[in-house]
Amino acid sequence: MRTTWRGIVAEYAPFFGSPDPASVVTLQEGGTPLVPLDRIVRDLPVPLSLYAKIEGANPTGSFKDRGMTLAVSRAAARGARALICASTGNTSASAAAYGVRAGLRVFVVIPDGKISRGKLAQAIVHRATVIQVEGLFDQALAIVREVASTHPVALVNSVNPDRLEGQRSVAFEIVDQMGEAPDYHFLPVGNAGNITASWAGYNAYRAAGRMAGLPRMMGIQAEGAAPIVLGHVVEKPETVASAIRIGNPASWQGALDAARDSGGAISSVSDEEILEAYHLLSSREGIFCEPASAASLAGFLKRARAGAFSGGERVVCTLTGHGLKDPDAVFRSQPAEIRVPARKEEVLSVLGFS
Ligand code: F0G
Repeated sequence: MRTTWRGIVAEYAPFFGSPDPASVVTLQEGGTPLVPLDRIVRDLPVPLSLYAKIEGANPTGSFKDRGMTLAVSRAAARGARALICASTGNTSASAAAYGVRAGLRVFVVIPDGKISRGKLAQAIVHRATVIQVEGLFDQALAIVREVASTHPVALVNSVNPDRLEGQRSVAFEIVDQMGEAPDYHFLPVGNAGNITASWAGYNAYRAAGRMAGLPRMMGIQAEGAAPIVLGHVVEKPETVASAIRIGNPASWQGALDAARDSGGAISSVSDEEILEAYHLLSSREGIFCEPASAASLAGFLKRARAGAFSGGERVVCTLTGHGLKDPDAVFRSQPAEIRVPARKEEVLSVLGFS
């Protein structure tokens, strides 16, 4: 009996024209857990089925690996020698890891300061060349797009269609895990590639006869970085959710189309709402995601508390990245350990046994 998950290209080969699964550059990404959030549901006005798709369980700790396996496989097959991306951290971590497996040089261009330490560590440990620009993600992306169009380096941001094609696989898995599509799918929106890809995934799976109904796609931006909600570019995006601190998303239109065509919406949540969802997941459900990921749950909770659900709905929230990516987010908002002298009595007194 085969028990090992082989990665998204091999598992869903009919949905990927190339590469041959035998020659794919893979870390066996995908196959992530879909976990019920029953403790959080208990406090809601109406009972419904709420699940988290734990994308932090991917090999480099975020959903980016689903697209990276395909983008890097195809870039390598086309004879690329080097990869480049702009990133708020997760794309660069994934590109760095898959680049190593393909034997390619990797250049990552990141915005000033705001990259979380875990993500930066990943790019460095995989020997990527890390270039920090004194500017925002949006400027970094504009630069790498131009560089890749004139020089022999393959762009692996989500403007690369191979990335989005691979990221469709999250929808395939959700349908396989639930036996059907959910009624609502909430996910954080930054550059808007993931909502575009997830929607394309549901449609491809339905066209292949694997499911009937389609979910409403609910994209959630951070209030301080909500260009799609506001309808204009945000020059100085600001949010605690550094992964989605983006003022001019590349797949803006894709997000609008997904929301419109599915009967969903793009809305925003405050940093406080994001952090509340982040702490609910960690303290009530045992799930540690990074702040940007919790935007999906925050968006759901906001609607649920406003009475938007009648009960019985099936809801999935994508939790896009692992909490260990950004440990500083914990220490900024919670007290650290209790320090006592190294004596049993001291520990017992903390336990309440004194
Ligand atoms: N959640 C996390 C943890 C992310 O890293 C990102 C994007 C998103 C959500 C939003 O996804 O851009 O497809 O709408 N991170 C990119 C990066 C921008 O460079 O790692 P999106």
